[in-house]
Amino acid sequence: MNRETYYITTPIYYPSAGLHIGNAYCTVVTDAIARYKRMRGFDVMFLTGTDEHGQKIEEKARAEGVTPQEFVDGIVLGSGGITDLWKLMNISFDRFIRTTDDYHMSSIQNVFRALFERGEIYKGAYRGEYCTPCESFWTKTQLVDGKCPDCGREVHYAEEEAYFFRLSKYGDRLTELLETGFLEPRSRVNEMINNFIKPGLEDLCVSRTSIKWGVPVDFDTNHVVYVWIDALFNYMSALGYENGRYDDMRYWPADLHVVGKEIVRFHAIIWPAFLFALDLPLPKKVFGHGWLKLDGTKISKSFGNSIDPMVLAPKYGVDALRYYLIRDVAFGSDGDFTEELLTNRVNADLANDFGNLVSRTVAMVDKYFGGKLPESGTAASPDGELIAFANAAPAAYAASFDKLALQNAVAEVMKLSSRANKYIDETAPWTLAKDEAQKPRLAEVLYNLLETVRFCAVLLSPVMPESSAKALAQIGASDLGAWDDLVFGRLPRRAAVTKCEPLFPRIQVEERA
Ligand code: ME8
Repeated sequence: MNRETYYITTPIYYPSAGLHIGNAYCTVVTDAIARYKRMRGFDVMFLTGTDEHGQKIEEKARAEGVTPQEFVDGIVLGSGGITDLWKLMNISFDRFIRTTDDYHMSSIQNVFRALFERGEIYKGAYRGEYCTPCESFWTKTQLVDGKCPDCGREVHYAEEEAYFFRLSKYGDRLTELLETGFLEPRSRVNEMINNFIKPGLEDLCVSRTSIKWGVPVDFDTNHVVYVWIDALFNYMSALGYENGRYDDMRYWPADLHVVGKEIVRFHAIIWPAFLFALDLPLPKKVFGHGWLKLDGTKISKSFGNSIDPMVLAPKYGVDALRYYLIRDVAFGSDGDFTEELLTNRVNADLANDFGNLVSRTVAMVDKYFGGKLPESGTAASPDGELIAFANAAPAAYAASFDKLALQNAVAEVMKLSSRANKYIDETAPWTLAKDEAQKPRLAEVLYNLLETVRFCAVLLSPVMPESSAKALAQIGASDLGAWDDLVFGRLPRRAAVTKCEPLFPRIQVEERA
């Protein structure tokens, strides 16, 4: 039987500079969802990539005296570049698209032509206040004291020939779409309707003659396709839409586009309008997440407050960083990033709670039974309560994960881990160990702990793939990491348990300095 497909995407990142922790946040969350869906048996396609055209990149390349292609190649493929970052962060993408890839560019030319032939794109003039040195148009309201907001120089009224997309005709269909749950969280829907649709949508400029670094319009070569058609259609060209490179349109429509809140407008208004115009199926959901902030300000390449995940990940551990990003920031809301919050979270949940549970359990199996429990043990209260808790955890976790409340899903696992630590206190294995007659009871207690560790590790695996695999290996459960293995008692009693280094060493506060 064919498995159900699940197609999930990140935005494609601008390689105008190296990426920061805010970009990594978006990709880590998407990766965790992709891994969760794989664990649940879906045939997942997880796409990420880079959005490589446009004026900014053209300018940066010029400033560095290299071609735009050389410039983006360096940032995307160079040492310490974007592909290295995703490798470091353990991002399990299935496909990586670059908008400079030939197959994508030919898709875009075909899409542009199709929109033109259908009358959805027409030729007109772009009008506005023009800053010649910056080669930029501004509206009157964007000017600062009547001058260019970027460089402060004089502007003048100008017109440039350009193609326009008939966005204005889609207001009603878009309102209807937004009201049916296409966009989450719900709070962003009102923002879209009130700020963009109600005031009236204007047709969208989709070509430029002043920029060279872009996909040429093949039937009018003075023009290049202006960024958003080029960028948004990546989600389809990566599957082979209008190109011969791939044959994966079975994944379309996408199940989920994960995007940051400032680009929700493009994904929830412009993107569906393009698809309406071509009579194509719409993605099922767009989720607009919040920003990571530093002292209340968005972390951003242009604000100069970038935090480099390439520095943080080795310092704290990749999984610790992934865990913090998912657990501490409610998906959909903004969150403050500080190394202090990271340290506190990692120490409380991973070092003191789950990590401690694993190391105590494994150490006791090692110490009292030489790493292998006997075939049977003696059950007693409070085993039933722990087992019921563990058996209920997957459903509670899935209910949150399926709603994309990842932080709550993870919290469910931590509740189980804490419950197991409490069970250690309740059963006091060190006391049982003193009495030979209590050995069967001790064996049962430790078996229940191993099983609880296994449940936690499986459930944490989308968030912390490497540490979860290590935890499973320590308890001899490497082959029991599937969702369907979440049945208490499935671990063989005689599984080989091996003591290892702590999974999450406590972060000493002075290390943060
Ligand atoms: O917007 N916290 O690319 P981009 C959380 N190329 N997320 C953040 C963030 C922060 N501090 N800063 C940035 C683009 N992001 C386009 C997308 S998609 C067809 C084209 C997120 O590199 C941001 O919200 O500027 C966005 O979702 C992503 O990083 C890429 O931003």
